[in-house]
Parts: sequence; structure tokens; C-alpha cells
Amino acid sequence: MTVVRRLLPDDAEEYRSLRLEALERHPEAFGSSHAEECTRPLASFADRIAGGYIAGGFVDGRLDATAGLLVPTQAKSRHKGMLWGVYVRAKRRGSGLADAVMTALLAHAAEHVEQIHLSVAAANGRAIGFYKRLGFEAFGTEPRALKVDGTYIDELLMVKVMGR
Ligand SMILES: CC(C)(COP(=O)(O)OP(=O)(O)OC[C@H]1O[C@@H](n2cnc3c(N)ncnc32)[C@H](O)[C@@H]1OP(=O)(O)O)[C@@H](O)C(=O)NCCC(=O)NCCS
Repeated sequence: MTVVRRLLPDDAEEYRSLRLEALERHPEAFGSSHAEECTRPLASFADRIAGGYIAGGFVDGRLDATAGLLVPTQAKSRHKGMLWGVYVRAKRRGSGLADAVMTALLAHAAEHVEQIHLSVAAANGRAIGFYKRLGFEAFGTEPRALKVDGTYIDELLMVKVMGR
């Protein structure tokens, strides 16, 4: 059975485990690194959950997917949400779980922001195809956005205006 819901601080342990898996297996896909996050205490993951919005996709009670939305506090920027931490465990890809999690996130975003921004590695064709299907449009490329083990990664910048 699939359940999609907002993560709660009590989910911190499962969230940490999935997050560290994502950072370890896909270092080029995320701005944060496994080395930086693996030493953080459990409480910091609970704080992150409490301090923002993270949609979680559970299959048979196990957390298998996440998507986060960060809303800036500055008055001139808070109409723009930032999508981050989009991850689906490999065995659940192509199953519709990613769509289900993003549907929940988009519903939440519609109540809080006017548009959603994201950055994605320019070589990550699967994720780019996924975001385009959800209505995100590319508006530029940030050259050398990340440096992973000495290799520079360009990132595609995408935006979705709510209601479009
Ligand atoms: C990105 C991610 C969340 C998408 O979830 P998913 O379940 O794989 O997505 P879906 O299968 O629903 O959609 C992927 C789309 O890309 C297409 N696709 C698959 N491989 C592709 C490739 N190499 N190049 C281009 N498109 C590709 C699929 O056909 C599908 O499009 P369609 O639904 O129009 O047919 C998931 O793949 C993931 O967690 N990847 C690793 C972490 C990551 O890259 N996160 C994004 C960080 S910005």
C-alpha cells in the first residue's frame, strides 16, 4: 500500500537513512554531500523536517521517496519556493511514486508560493524529463554549479509557475 504524507519529526530516523542513501549513490545530483550529512545527529534531521515541508512516499510502511520545498523568509523572495531533495529509491522508480510525492508537494506549494524553482544536473536526463512532464521549464544553465571529486557539474535551472 502506498501512502504519501508530510514527514513529521518522528520520521527522522527513516528520513536520515533514505537521505544518506541518496547522497551516497547520486553525489552529482545533490548540492549536499554524504560526508557532510552522515556525521550530523539525528536531531538535525528532525529539525529539518520540522523547519520546512518534506513530502514522503511510503510503500508498505517504508519511506521510499521524498521531495522538499523551501520557502524563503525574505519579503521579496518568498513568492518563490525552492524544490530540493527529490529522491526515489531505485526499485520504486518508474512506478508512479515520484509523481505521487510531487503531487502532494505541488498541492502544498500552491497554498504557499507562486512559483517553484529547482536546479538539476544538466546530464540528468531522467530527472529533467520527469520535471518537464510536471510542467517545469528550463530558463538557463549554471556552469560549474557543483564540484564533485574534482569534476565540475553544470546545472539546468528550471521554474514552474503555479497554475500553469
Ligand atoms: C528523478 C527521480 C525522482 C524521478 O523519479 P522516477 O520514478 O525515476 O521518474 P519517472 O519514471 O516517473 O519519470 C522519468 C521520466 O524520464 C524518462 N526517462 C527515463 N530515463 C531517461 C533518460 N535517460 N533520459 C531522458 N528521459 C528519461 C522516463 O521515460 C519518464 O518520462 P515519461 O513518464 O514521460 O515516460 C528518480 O529517478 C530519482 O530519484 N533519481 C535519482 C536522484 C535524482 O536524480 N534526483 C533528482 C535531483 S534534482
